[in-house]
Amino acid sequence: MSASRTRLLPADAAGIAEAGRLIRDGRLVALPTETVYGLGADATDGRAVAAIYEAKGRPSFNPLIAHVGEPAEALKLGVFDRHAQALADAFWPGPLTLVVPMAEGAGISDLARAGLDTVGLRVPSHPVARALLNAAGRPVAAPSANRSGHVSPTTAAHVLADLDGRIDAVLDAGPTEVGVESTIVACLADAPVLLRPGGVPREAIEAVIGRPLAAPAGEATIAPGMLASHYAPNAAIRLDARDVSPGEALLAFGPDALPGAGRILNLSPSGDLAEAAANLFGHLRALDASGASGIAVMRIPREGLGEAIRDRLARAAAPRT
Ligand code: TXA
Ligand code: MG
Repeated sequence: MSASRTRLLPADAAGIAEAGRLIRDGRLVALPTETVYGLGADATDGRAVAAIYEAKGRPSFNPLIAHVGEPAEALKLGVFDRHAQALADAFWPGPLTLVVPMAEGAGISDLARAGLDTVGLRVPSHPVARALLNAAGRPVAAPSANRSGHVSPTTAAHVLADLDGRIDAVLDAGPTEVGVESTIVACLADAPVLLRPGGVPREAIEAVIGRPLAAPAGEATIAPGMLASHYAPNAAIRLDARDVSPGEALLAFGPDALPGAGRILNLSPSGDLAEAAANLFGHLRALDASGASGIAVMRIPREGLGEAIRDRLARAAAPRT
């Protein structure tokens, strides 16, 4: 089902309407969100969802997030307990995904849920995403719009670098603002579980639910997409670096970049974690493309968005599976 040519659609009324038509036709459209670009298809159409896996070259079926344009629509698709309801009220639209039991008749295809009886729901805050989702008029399944195992795309050019000729269109709204994927919280039992740190910091979520987020139980994690090597560039990544080795590029953070690297990109010279998150995947791609044998990464603090940044860097540094 791969397209011979991928169209670049402008994020104006005509481009959004055309993207909505393509989704309703069962085609693949990459769409901007505030976190990263997603590879969207009609979540209620199993064949369209299958084409997502094919285009990404994803070896196995992981559950996909179903995106809708309005919080009220999302609330109809799942069963929300008091924690899920409070989190939806506080953070939607925004970079939070809630995993809840699917509501009866919600119609999200089995393949999009990888056969689970739960569903990952998200209402993005990006105005172009919301306009497209409302134009499509149905839930849109969308993983990050990269080839399986590559870092997530934060520009339309990143999407084309991975998927040109394999998808029907990219809706181009410029670089994404948040830069790391949504935070995923499962509300399935009494204690909400943090499945993936992301664009909404843990502290903000815990303030709303009035208790600490639980960690996923054991090895049988219920977010099977969270494989260690998921965000892997080619260059070897070295975390919490205090120096730069010969041949290494430097991914710096803060005003005091380490000396000695031929190629340096700074996530945030002022030490701002939101700016660092927005730059993370683009800088990793650029340093990887520079041909350096390795990338030394300076220490990123753990608080706020730092938890998600450190999580993605740890995955990028993990041995390949
Ligand atoms: O910011 C984001 O979340 C981006 C944009 C495009 O929305 N999407 C994204 O999708 O990062 P993806 O497929 O790369 O990651 C989705 C994660 C996977 O790890 C998957 O296992 C988990 O969500 N997930 C989805 N539905 C789930 C469910 N029912 N139960 C457990 N985990 C689920
Ligand atoms: Mg992904």
